[in-house]
Amino acid sequence: MRIDVVSIFPSYFDGLTLSLLGKAQSAGILDLRVHDLREWTHDRHRTVDDTPYGGGAGMVMKPEPWALALDELVGTTTSEESARPTIIFPSPAGEVFSQATARELSTREHLVFGCGRYEGIDERVFEYASTLGEVRLISLGDYVLNGGEVATMAMVEAIGRLIPGVVGNPDSLVEESHEDGLLEYPSYTKPAVWRERPVPDVLLSGNHGAIAAWRREQQWERTRRRRPDLLPDGSEEL
Ligand code: ADE
Repeated sequence: MRIDVVSIFPSYFDGLTLSLLGKAQSAGILDLRVHDLREWTHDRHRTVDDTPYGGGAGMVMKPEPWALALDELVGTTTSEESARPTIIFPSPAGEVFSQATARELSTREHLVFGCGRYEGIDERVFEYASTLGEVRLISLGDYVLNGGEVATMAMVEAIGRLIPGVVGNPDSLVEESHEDGLLEYPSYTKPAVWRERPVPDVLLSGNHGAIAAWRREQQWERTRRRRPDLLPDGSEEL
């Protein structure tokens, strides 16, 4: 998969060279390219923002640097429908990101993330981008960040780890929170008793059927208690 990220703070993304995503890049599974939006400005001050029409607080990102960036990054890929890139603009006004979104996006060949700052990007950019690819405005959750960078980092990590070969043991992807609609079961390691706190007996029993049943029940119990909104209607009583 190829991922292009456009930001006025490209060094935010240095962390993505670490750990599993770093290894995926070295192995050629993930081609991650981070770009400075100011590369597509042509004035002495490398200006990316301007005052809003209609007045109001703050500044708005100018459309032209975004259009030049998208033309260059998307124009290099084929125009075949299957290879049309998905262009993602992180925004608190977008659809909410979830594991299902991550799964869907992990099947794409080319993602482009456009990180807005200030009061946002000139609205016409989204319409322009839709002539080049599929446009998605995606929110990390119902709170406001200072810009799209942190949201992009989170999304790239959630999506990237679902690309086959990125996580060494694919079984660990199956058993984690949200993969089956429930929260993950609790995990323990040695010692069996730690600071007077024993590990649940069933985990030491060697009875694989009983362990699987206990873990499933823990998943339901935790989900009911912490995230009842995840349960299908009526299943709280199961
Ligand atoms: N930019 C600012 N806040 C955001 C959020 N909650 N999600 C995605 N992008 C954002």
